[in-house]
Parts: sequence; structure tokens; C-alpha cells
Amino acid sequence: MTKAYEFIDHHYDVLVVGAGGSGLRATLGSAEAGLKTACISKVFPTRSHTVAAQGGIGAALGNMGEDNWKWHMYDTVKGSDWLGDQDAIEYLCANAPEAVIELEDYGMPFSRTEDGKIYQRPFGGHLTNNGEGAPAMRACAAADRTGHALLHTLYQQSLKQNVEFFIEYFVLDLIMDDDVNCIGIVALCLEDGTLHRFLSHQTILATGGYGRAYLSSTSAHICTGDGSAMILRQNLPLSDMEFIQFHPTGVYGAGVLITEGARGEGGYLTNSDGERFMERYAPNAKDLASRDVVSRAMTIEINENRGCGDKADHVLLHLEHIESSTLHKRLPGISETAKIFAGVDLTKQPIPVLPTVHYNMGGIPTNYRTEVLRPTKDNPDNVCEGLMAVGEAACVSVHGANRLGTNSLIDLVVFGKASSLTAKDKVKPNSKKIQINFNKTESIIDRFDKIRFNKGERTTGEVRRSMQKVMQEKCAVFRTHDLISKGIEEISEIDKSMDDIGLKDKSLIFNTDLTESLELHNLMAQSKVTLHSALNRTESRGAHAREDHKERDDSNWLVHTLSWLDDKGNVRMGKRPVQMNTLSNHVQPIPPKKRVY
Ligand code: FUM
Repeated sequence: MTKAYEFIDHHYDVLVVGAGGSGLRATLGSAEAGLKTACISKVFPTRSHTVAAQGGIGAALGNMGEDNWKWHMYDTVKGSDWLGDQDAIEYLCANAPEAVIELEDYGMPFSRTEDGKIYQRPFGGHLTNNGEGAPAMRACAAADRTGHALLHTLYQQSLKQNVEFFIEYFVLDLIMDDDVNCIGIVALCLEDGTLHRFLSHQTILATGGYGRAYLSSTSAHICTGDGSAMILRQNLPLSDMEFIQFHPTGVYGAGVLITEGARGEGGYLTNSDGERFMERYAPNAKDLASRDVVSRAMTIEINENRGCGDKADHVLLHLEHIESSTLHKRLPGISETAKIFAGVDLTKQPIPVLPTVHYNMGGIPTNYRTEVLRPTKDNPDNVCEGLMAVGEAACVSVHGANRLGTNSLIDLVVFGKASSLTAKDKVKPNSKKIQINFNKTESIIDRFDKIRFNKGERTTGEVRRSMQKVMQEKCAVFRTHDLISKGIEEISEIDKSMDDIGLKDKSLIFNTDLTESLELHNLMAQSKVTLHSALNRTESRGAHAREDHKERDDSNWLVHTLSWLDDKGNVRMGKRPVQMNTLSNHVQPIPPKKRVY
């Protein structure tokens, strides 16, 4: 069967997989460094999921009040519940202001203050004065369409650099050399069904998160964590997969995002008694506490019968007290979203909302230079050569157990650029072409054919839905040993049923049944390691709330978890130290303490 395919070969210095914010920033930086760069994406670049990011990009510019990158660092370490690596967090926060000014110079259309500076708003968990002061005005915003503006800016700049884009190519797997270092990828061109080998000195995975493992998610349908699944198939580990962020304000029933910027502009939550309940859970920060805190509070309100509506199963987000001119100017996108998805005019009525899966803190472990780690017993920082990862796909780890809002967009551009600097260090422009034997790609094609020609009665959609239901019910905001164990049992059964999926359409051209099936395999692998990681961590930290282990346990669990998946579907767990030291002596390490808002 495998001999039936002809490959078209391509050679590059740098190959970027994914054209969201981090992929495009990596692409742009590599091309600006004179490296021969290609960017491959399964969707048109400006349709990548970054387009959906709303409220802002975090950087201590201090345009609208005193701010300091060290306060941003403090908030990020605290927000991560001390699981973030402090060297990487220092790198993120210290480089954030320059990264935003670069975007401005590239032409990103930020909202403006009266005196023409970039407009900044408050966001959850961002405070002044090392957590002791007032909310920080730190989220640099383009109305509530910041990701949209960012993505278009970076795409246009990449075009200006004559980057070669391969659009609507689905990457099947990594190609590794004899030393199991990465030398490229195999991809299917969705438009004409041809197969391609892209050989490259550095491959940068910018393939996003796997939010679609869940039934209700703010993530686009393309968020299937394809790069992370490729990592698992190479017997490399993923890190901290138990940490799933629930955004407090998904539209009830639809899951569509209502930006935290809404609370930044003065919005607040109420329960069925009309009470502003966040005042009880976070007396200081209230509705602007970090997301894990707000999502848990909302869930408790609902579980204790103070939810709203006929089924008492959601709470209300109020914006109707805010001047409609402000809503129109600062939050035009969510005004439209509320109308379409909740049937609500937010200038007059509250929006029904519910915590909804939004972000994966875990992913492909990297160092702050974005090199992918292959930890060994003797060296937890050992690097897999030729391979980098950035953005939501990666676990640098700057977000640790809980990400602060706006820290995703800044992560994309700071570490997207960092990967291009690492590539510049490691690769000379127009390096010698890599040559390979056919057998390096044989197993990739065998797997592809197995999925394409498998005989069975079940459909991809059916199996996907049962997987999503298990994740939604068994690995949610609150977890217990029994609940997760049941989830593991159920997911193993569903995984077995993947062998019963039969594709009706075996063709190679724009065959969405085939690509969705490949994506389902990727989602399933990550669902399994997520459940095992959640069972393994017997403490509560950040977004991982175990009702049977309610406290954070620093003596046993101030560590990153690692999870490997073997080809029989078994998960193996390991650990890696958290980097508690900073990168420079400009700032001191921030020791763990109780996290209150
Ligand atoms: O609420 C939001 O606008 C989302 C921002 C983020 O996830 O960083």
C-alpha cells in the first residue's frame, strides 16, 4: 500500500507548523533573520484560532497608570500557583513591553487613549505593587478584537518578507533521523491530495491547544492539538496535561467567549439572589480574581442551588450599567456575540454565562529558548535537536497551573520571536539540504493508510462526541479520584471503539471525514494523558481542583508532571523540577505562599 504514494520534497532552513500568532511571529522572525522559511497551516492563516482572542495582550507599558514588568512577573508566578518556571516568566514579562511596541511598529491597530497611546484595561489577576495594590491597567487592547488585529498584522508582515506559505496542508507526523532528532514533517495537501515531505534544520510546532477534546469549549473546531499528538507518537512526553483552564464567561448553551475585558470595563457576576457573589470568594479582586478562582466560585454557586434560569444552571454577567457608548467603543464584538448567541441586548439585559473550556496550560515541554525537551533520568533539561514548540502547543512553562488572561497573546509573540532567535543561533541561512531514505516515512504512511482504509460501522462524529462527553463530565472544574478513574475506564473503551470507525469516503481531495478522523486520533491521545495526569496529581493547584485533596501540597507536588503514551495506549507518568530561579539578577525568585485575591 505505502508504495502507492509519491512524495513531493521541499527543503528549508526553518519550517513552522501552524499560522496562529506564535507560528506567524516565529515565521516572521526567521524570515527577517535571512533563514529560508516555510509556514504550513491546515487553515488559511487569518482563520487560525488566535483570531478569536478578544480582550488584550499583557505588557507593563504603564500607559494608563503606574506599572512595572516585575509586578507583571509577580502576578504571573502567583497566577500559575507557583508551578510556572521563573526563568521563563522573567523572560516573558521583561520582553513583553518591547514585543508590544514591535507589534505597534508592524502596524497593529491598537485602540488609543486621548493622547494617542495604546489603550490598556484591567484583567483578572493583574495587580499593581506585587499583588498588594489596585488592579493594573495592563491589557493592551484593539477593542475586543485584539487577536484578530494581531493575526492580520503578522500575516501581512510575513507576506512582506516573502515567506512561503503552504496553506491547507495537514501535517501527519514528524520525521526523525537515526538519532531521533527532528528533520522535518510529512503533510497532506488537502486541495489536491498530494503527499509532501518538508525537510528542515529546525521545525517549530505552533499547532495550538486541544480544547476540542471537550464538548463545550471556546476553542475553534481546528483546536485538536495535532503537534502535541505527534510528540506523543515519537515517544516524547507532554507536560502538565492536568491543567485545563475554564474561562468563567462562556455564553450559556453556546460556549462562545465573552471576554474577561467585559469585567475589566466594569462588568460583574450575580447569582439567582442577585448577589455579587465574587465579593465572598475574592474580597480584594472580586470579579477580577484569576480565572480558576472565578470559575470555581461560579460552579459552587450553581452546585449550591444559587444558579439562574429554569434549570438554575448558570449565572449572569451584567454590563447594562455601563454607558452604551463605552460598550460600543470598547466591546463591539461581544455586543454582537451576546445578541447572536444569547439573544441578549447587553445594554439592557445581563448575559447568561457558564465556565467553559478555554486553554491548555500543559503541552510540549520546552525551555525558554523554545527547544523541545526530552528529559532523561540524569538530565531533565535534555533537548530534542531540530525541534521547537511555541504558543498554546508548548508548555514553556509560563502559565504553570493557571494562566492569567492576556498572557496567552504575549506568550505567542515573545516566544514566537524567541524561537526565531534560537533558529538564528543554530542554523546558517541556506544550509545544506537534508536527504533521507524512504523508510524514514514508512511508518507514517502505514498509520495514515490504517485510518483511511479501516473497515468499520462507527462514524468519526459519533466517537468524538462520546470522548468529548467523558472529558466534560469526568475532568471538569472539580475532580475526584473516583470520577477521574471512571473517566479513564470509559475513555479506554471509547479508544478501543476507534478500531470500528469506517470512513465512507476514501478519497484524498478535501476529504473532511479523513482529516476529522486524523484529528480525532490526536484528540484521543491527549484526552488519555490528560485523565491520567489528573488522577496522578493528588493535590489542588490552580485549575486542577481535587475535592479529595483540597490543599496545595508543595512538599510533594511542586513539580511538573510528564506523560508518555506508548503505542499500545498505555500512559506512563514522570516528573520534572519547576525552575524556581530567575534568569538574571534583575529580579529575585518569588517564593511560594498562599494564593489569595
Ligand atoms: O477573555 C479574554 O479576552 C481572553 C483572553 C485570554 O484568554 O487571554
